[in-house]
This record gives sequence, C-alpha cells and structure tokens, in this order.
Amino acid sequence: MSTDKTNEPEARGCISIRNVSKVYDPDGAKVLAVDNCSMDIKAGEFCVVVGPSGCGKTTLLNAIAGFHEITSGEILLDGQQLCAPGKKTLPGSDRIVVFQNGALFPWFTVLENVSFGPVVQGGLSDKDIRDKAREMLVQMGLANIENSYPSEISSGMRRRVEIARAMMNDPSVLLLDEPFRAMDALTKTVVHQFLLDVYDRSKKTIFFITHDLEEAIFLGSKVYIMTTRPAKIKTILDVDIPRPRDFRVLSSSTYIRLKKECLEAVHEEAIKAFTAGEREMA
Ligand SMILES: Nc1ncnc2c1ncn2[C@@H]1O[C@H](COP(=O)(O)OP(=O)(O)O)[C@@H](O)[C@H]1O
Ligand SMILES: [Mg+2]
Repeated sequence: MSTDKTNEPEARGCISIRNVSKVYDPDGAKVLAVDNCSMDIKAGEFCVVVGPSGCGKTTLLNAIAGFHEITSGEILLDGQQLCAPGKKTLPGSDRIVVFQNGALFPWFTVLENVSFGPVVQGGLSDKDIRDKAREMLVQMGLANIENSYPSEISSGMRRRVEIARAMMNDPSVLLLDEPFRAMDALTKTVVHQFLLDVYDRSKKTIFFITHDLEEAIFLGSKVYIMTTRPAKIKTILDVDIPRPRDFRVLSSSTYIRLKKECLEAVHEEAIKAFTAGEREMA
C-alpha cells in the first residue's frame, strides 16, 4: 500500500505577481501605471486591493484577467505563467471578472444570463445547463427572480446575479473591479453579506478592488494598500477578524483598529495623489 500522503485535493487559485511593471504607450507618453509590484496571493484568499483613483489597480487586474500584456515581470496562476512581456494568457473560465458597471445581457432573463457560460462552453445538454443554473440560483437565494429581466430587478439583485453567473464556471479566481462602487450604503450591506456567504461556501480566491476602506476590511482576509501611481504595495494589513462575518464586525475593536491603520496609510497616498494632480494641472 502506498504511504504517499500527498493526494489531498490541490488548492486552486494561487496568484503570484512578480516584479510586475506596466507602461502604457511605451513609444509616446510612457505612462508608468504599475511599478515593480509583487504580491503572493494564497489559494482561497480574499484579497482586497485599495488605493487612490488612477493608481493602477485596474491595470493589474486586467493583466491577471488576460486583457493586456505587462512590460516586465510575470504573473503566475497555480505555478503556470499567465502573463509576461510578449505573452498573455487569454481570458478564460478559470479567471472570471465582475466589472464595475455590470455586464448582464438585458435581453436575457436571469436564468438565461446565469446559463450563459456553460452554453458558450458547450459539453452539457440544455436541460443539464438549466438544472445547474437553477441549482445555483437556489443556492444564492435568487430562485424567485429566474424569469425576470435585468431591467426588472434592483441594482443589488443584478450584482448578485452577476456573481452567480461568475460562479457557474467554477473559476479558480474571481476578479472583482469595484463591483459595488455606485451603490447606496444600504444596498451595499446586503451585497456585502451576499459575497461573504458566497466566499464562505466556495473558498474561491477573490481579487477585489475598491477604494472603500470599510468595505475592504469588512470583506477581506488581507488588504493590500497601493501607493499613488505608479502602483506598488505600500502596506499589507492582515484582517484577523474571524468568519463568518456579519454587520456586528463593524463595531468590533479589531475592525476599528484596522480601519485606523488603513486610513493613515491611504490618507498619506491620497495627499500625494492630490499634490501630484495639482502639479500636473499647473
Ligand atoms: N489604455 C491606457 N492608455 C494610457 N494610459 C492608461 C490606459 N489605461 C489606464 N491608463 C492610465 O494608467 C493609470 C492607472 O490606471 P488604472 O489602472 O485604471 O487605475 P485605477 O484602477 O487604480 O483607478 C492612470 O493614470 C490611467 O490614466
Ligand atoms: Mg480602476
């Protein structure tokens, strides 16, 4: 009998960002958006990236997603190179992006939207796809709106449907670029709880961008604070708040301490960004 104990399921979703730089328009304006940035994101980590507007967060996410190349360094997913100068691995169902502005098809119902990934990928019968999509909607508490169109449901519901649609592909990594940016505070509390529940159930690696510090600490396991452009990691905060989390976390002493630390680091960068902006305007 084998004594090999290494047959545990392999964790998926480990992202290594190694010395990544990205220059836009290298032959012209040469905008250095990301400067020698390194991050080690463990499989199953809820990683939140915060930083001033324009600092290079989306640029980094887009490189992981396979939307563009980088100028130097490399990005690996589970040891496989995704992105390096001259190379990008195209967007795939292992890395699903949920965008800031929403991307549901308005002419599809909720059920059809959630079924979309498996339909495009092929391999499953229509019935199996419908069954799988219905199961996902039940799991996500969205079964009662399966026949609604996106225009008939609230913005909070739309975001939830998008996350359900992303989860249908069983990605290794969920990439979320300020997904709750335009929401009012009350709706945010509902979608936050929703995403926390999805994370607790799935333990997917999440790469979440925001500039809302409270959101960052409430959701994240680690908060990576970026410098002003060009983006580098300024500070990493370990969010040692146990899960499952709910709104009561927001009044805990750990949360308040972390928020203070986060505020101090971000404020320093915001002042730099503001001053740089004034210089550019002058
Ligand atoms: N396609 C592009 N061409 C030139 N500059 C760009 C392009 N996309 C973004 N930038 C610049 O790169 C910097 C970082 O942008 P971005 O990654 O979108 O920042 P963030 O998401 O942190 O707000 C900004 O100064 C932005 O103007
Ligand atoms: Mg952005």
